[in-house]
Amino acid sequence: MSIASVIGMQWGDEGKGKIVDLLSSECDIVVRYQGGSNAGHTVIIGDEKFVLHLIPSGILHPKVKCVIGNGVVLDPMLLLKEMDELTKRGIKIKGRLFISERCHLVFQYHKWLDTLSEKSLGKSKIGTTGRGIGPAYVDKYNRTGIRLMDLYEPKRLLEKVKINLAEKNIYFRALHSKTGIDSGAIYKESLFYARRLKPYVTDTRLFIRRMMDAKIRVLFEGAQGTLLNIDHGTYPFVTSSHSDATGISAGSGIPPSSITNVIGILKAYTTRVGEGPFPTEQDNPIGECLRKEGGEFGATTGRPRRCGWLDMVAAKYAVELNGVSQIVITKLDVLSILKSIKVAVAYKYKGRVYRDFPADLNTLKNCEPVYRTLPGWQSSLRGIRKYRDFPLNTRRYLEYIEKKLGVPIKIISIGPERTQTIDKR
Ligand code: IMP
Repeated sequence: MSIASVIGMQWGDEGKGKIVDLLSSECDIVVRYQGGSNAGHTVIIGDEKFVLHLIPSGILHPKVKCVIGNGVVLDPMLLLKEMDELTKRGIKIKGRLFISERCHLVFQYHKWLDTLSEKSLGKSKIGTTGRGIGPAYVDKYNRTGIRLMDLYEPKRLLEKVKINLAEKNIYFRALHSKTGIDSGAIYKESLFYARRLKPYVTDTRLFIRRMMDAKIRVLFEGAQGTLLNIDHGTYPFVTSSHSDATGISAGSGIPPSSITNVIGILKAYTTRVGEGPFPTEQDNPIGECLRKEGGEFGATTGRPRRCGWLDMVAAKYAVELNGVSQIVITKLDVLSILKSIKVAVAYKYKGRVYRDFPADLNTLKNCEPVYRTLPGWQSSLRGIRKYRDFPLNTRRYLEYIEKKLGVPIKIISIGPERTQTIDKR
């Protein structure tokens, strides 16, 4: 039995969508277990581009079944839109998508709260995607959230909606509108979602369990990345879920001991969207060059991504936290333009050298990265199909990463297409 997971080792946007799509051809079920429509996974197949926010990228493989686990906060309106769009493009959803009855729901008012909270934070804003993720998780942990299963108990649903809105309406009435949010309208909207989503709602923990018993291959698809993890990331500049391997068990109901392979996705350089510390950021022509070459604009919000050098301090932290057993390097082709490439190996702050990722935000914000400079290769990689055909300096860059992290590189991605992928094993 193989239970693998694909985890972003940086601040998200490592190119997980393409890798999940590739690995899906070797598995039977793909499971999302955290986050929500803040994620944006881009997959390019021939001339077609798919951007998926909630449905696992495995849906693009006709034989693969997809699960949205209990840890996901689900925006039903966006999910239905995504389902309709995929159906229009000839992708079959019925009988292939399974959504946990335990998923908490995201409504429009969660998105308003997200925006209002960012406004009130002013200069200290987090730079969220505005998808209502934080407020929906607040409801979940406050134990006032609406779960998908609640939609199928109309008598209790209205009561739950009223409870959920009680505190919020005090806030909305004071700040936003005189009337607040109408619980009756939310109730009606919920019944619409209940009808449309009914064929897909199930006990996904049990579904995955049965599949595991039948020795079926499962792939867990992480959204965002390790450094955006609510506990271990650069708090408070993080998302509101466990966006790494530590969230798999809680967000799907499978035991932690059953995960056999953690595949870490590491972009050949670093990017970040939103606010927060980023020690190797290059707010200069190098950063601009990476953004342009790498097309570094958010798939969900379209925001330009901040760009910088590969950070081995952060990558080592991600290896340790997730128990990464194999690495996939993405967007290596983007570096082809550079004469030399820097890699951070430590941070210096107030006379101290840090080789382990610090928890303190001030240290991360004000530290000086210690760089090692490696020679570039300055030739296109996009047509290469075998590892041995890489220029010597490209192989040296990859072997340096492997050695420093003590984890083998499994796959190298050198372009957005499925074919622009090299299996190093
Ligand atoms: P939220 O998840 O929308 O609350 O945003 C919190 C932080 O996580 C912000 O810095 C976002 O830019 C970042 N974030 C959320 N989702 C993604 C993602 O899929 N890729 C990269 N960053 C993300």
